[in-house]
Amino acid sequence: MYNARAYSARSATSPLAVATVERRDPTEHDVQIEILFCGICHSDLHQVRNEWQSVMPTVYPCIPGHEIVGRVAKVGSAVTGFKPGDLAAVGCMVDSDRTCPECLAGLEQFCPNMTLTYNMPDKHLGGVTYGGYSDSVVVNEHFVLHVPSNLNLAGAAPLLCAGITTYSPLHHWGVTKGKKVGVVGLGGLGHLAVKIAHALGAHVVVFTTSPGKKDDALRLGADEVVVSRNSGEMQKHRGSFNFILDAVSAEHDINAYIQLLGRDGNLTIVGAPEKPLPVSVLGLIFGRHSLSGSPIGGIAETQQMLDFCGAHGITAEVEVIPIQKVNEAYERLAKADVKYRFSIDMASLKSE
Ligand SMILES: NC(=O)c1ccc[n+]([C@@H]2O[C@H](COP(=O)([O-])OP(=O)(O)OC[C@H]3O[C@@H](n4cnc5c(N)ncnc54)[C@H](OP(=O)(O)O)[C@@H]3O)[C@@H](O)[C@H]2O)c1
Ligand SMILES: [Zn+2]
Ligand SMILES: [Zn+2]
Repeated sequence: MYNARAYSARSATSPLAVATVERRDPTEHDVQIEILFCGICHSDLHQVRNEWQSVMPTVYPCIPGHEIVGRVAKVGSAVTGFKPGDLAAVGCMVDSDRTCPECLAGLEQFCPNMTLTYNMPDKHLGGVTYGGYSDSVVVNEHFVLHVPSNLNLAGAAPLLCAGITTYSPLHHWGVTKGKKVGVVGLGGLGHLAVKIAHALGAHVVVFTTSPGKKDDALRLGADEVVVSRNSGEMQKHRGSFNFILDAVSAEHDINAYIQLLGRDGNLTIVGAPEKPLPVSVLGLIFGRHSLSGSPIGGIAETQQMLDFCGAHGITAEVEVIPIQKVNEAYERLAKADVKYRFSIDMASLKSE
């Protein structure tokens, strides 16, 4: 084992602070990565503050971070896909059984024995896994991704969660040219959904509660922008969407969006608010609408998404911060005050 530096939270109410974390020495199939950037996902905030305690309670100390980009420092003897010095990325998962039907289908996100990058039992060291707000991490080769060399690294990091979480349902629900697609909430996930849906050729409509984000939405690739608090603007789109992706982190009225679906239209929720959301069943019945959720994406699909983003020059719009500003960044993220993702420059951890 070796010691890595990290930022960790000791409780749901304590700020993140510098800590030492033990990492395993790479075993034969492992890759040791020096972390260069880690995005701040709203899930990190939910988890650090124990907002998902009814489903996945947080174990403290908690070291969040699952939007990791770095350089390979060491590889195990059986690793074939990476060598020291290569760029490497890690998303929300670090392990699975690789033998169940879900794994064999490349859908590791549904594996009953899947290990998330943080706050899940660590099969190697005991305790729980610790994430990417750290200078180093060791991950099985199967869960390490290749970053296209043309992408800016700080902006590529958020692709590892926000990118795949939006790319996967857009693909699953057949978003292509000629489809009318809504994106609800222009945050970290939402702004990447806009870029990806635009690159897929769809007609993209952004729904935002922040009128000040209108120009950005158009610049990012939206064809239209609706301020969702304006019911007149909302009604103009009634019954017209093939697909709507809802990436809102807080309580809100999803029935207002179900009404906007056309026949057989689907609303997929990727945002994960703390409290349940009421659903109008009649809103689903009339129009044969469907309502779905979607978690991240499999490893093969994550690589496909990275390659797609490489080909289309897609990265997140990031505000790069030193890790010492992480608590301030959390306060701002809670108020939807970030354009559009914080990316931590891990070089800042060296000065701690
Ligand atoms: N399903 C998955 O696998 C998965 C993966 C990653 C993240 N998530 C979840 O997805 C959600 C979004 O994550 P994120 O990192 O994109 O968060 P984020 O950057 O904070 O974006 C959330 C956006 O939601 C909108 N919003 C916030 N509060 C709102 C309210 N009270 N009413 C209506 N809209 C509101 C805001 O957009 P506007 O200003 O445009 O209104 C905000 O920018 C989080 O709950 C996160 O945990 C799920
Ligand atoms: Zn995430
Ligand atoms: Zn499995």
